[in-house]
Amino acid sequence: MGEYKIAVLPGDGIGPEITEQALKALKAVAVKFGHDFKFTEGHIGGAGYDAAGHPLPPQTLELCHNSDAILLGAVGGPRWDNLPVHLRPEAGALLPLRKELGLYANIRPAKVFPALVNASTLKPEVVSGLDILVVRELTGGLYFGQKKREPLHDGAIKVIDTLEYTTPEIERIVRLGFQMAQKRRKKLTSVDKANVLESSRHWREVVTGLAGEYPDVELDHMYVDNCAMQLVKNPRQFDVIVTDNMFGDILSDQASMLTGSLGMLASASIGGKIGLYEPSHGSAPKYAGMKRANPIATVLSGAMLLKFSLNLGQESDAIEQAVTRVLDLGYRTADLMEDGMKLVNTDQMGDLIAEQVLKS
Ligand code: IPM
Ligand code: MG
Repeated sequence: MGEYKIAVLPGDGIGPEITEQALKALKAVAVKFGHDFKFTEGHIGGAGYDAAGHPLPPQTLELCHNSDAILLGAVGGPRWDNLPVHLRPEAGALLPLRKELGLYANIRPAKVFPALVNASTLKPEVVSGLDILVVRELTGGLYFGQKKREPLHDGAIKVIDTLEYTTPEIERIVRLGFQMAQKRRKKLTSVDKANVLESSRHWREVVTGLAGEYPDVELDHMYVDNCAMQLVKNPRQFDVIVTDNMFGDILSDQASMLTGSLGMLASASIGGKIGLYEPSHGSAPKYAGMKRANPIATVLSGAMLLKFSLNLGQESDAIEQAVTRVLDLGYRTADLMEDGMKLVNTDQMGDLIAEQVLKS
């Protein structure tokens, strides 16, 4: 029995409709296990800009600081793409929120559900049983370094993005990678571009330096280009991948597609006092309001919230098992649809999962 405050930031595009389904699952957990979840909604992204003139309104930030955990849908859309960078949903809300809350670690599990083994574009024998965890550094590197435009002659300009890391920034994320591996199959692949980048050379030194503290973990270093190739060639060789911000952004999208759909990939951003949970996919503006989107990534993000922020492991498993059962029963949203399966919309998928949580 516990009382918890959860900030809910639906955002833009399909954000509100998928978030609603995660709430159904969490409410089912509350009933089933006798918890009291207090959900409070806030505006973020384009919705924040429309309501309060900023993609991350101060009220939203305050709500986040006063909560035990945050559930986020998705942000962004063509309506806000032409705003100045600091007011755009992605750069103006998502990145500062991560920074402000100290969420330096992004955890993205890519797992192939047995029922979906044919939904991947890769052969079933390549992806069957796949279970990878991408641990992405989230508040440093290229996405947070200084950016500049300098005028040259004839209207040309020079553009600069800076990639910076400090030793402690690398150490804390790499440690988390080792610790995650210890709880799983004990294999860690550190991904870098140490043949070219100075930041990567130091990254590799730090990883090597820490390895001795985790003797039970088998460690590999891999260049990012090779990793991209290995992920499609033989993805089951991976257990935990730890990497910097940009490489992790790219590789986690790639890893997600191995599971059949970007709509399956949950994520947890942790490291600060309050964790943030969101699907790895975007706001898919062209599907907004159509009730066609797959809410499972968001529902599973809710499951991660229970486990990582509220320490409710059994409740988290109940949601994961409910998702597994609904898929085993043959229900599919459009992105996962195959012959012989039962097509459902976003709401129906949410209802089915909540129902299974209650039955568990
Ligand atoms: C993600 C997204 C964001 C990121 C964008 C929208 C800023 O791609 O969460 O992976 O790169 O972190
Ligand atoms: Mg991304």
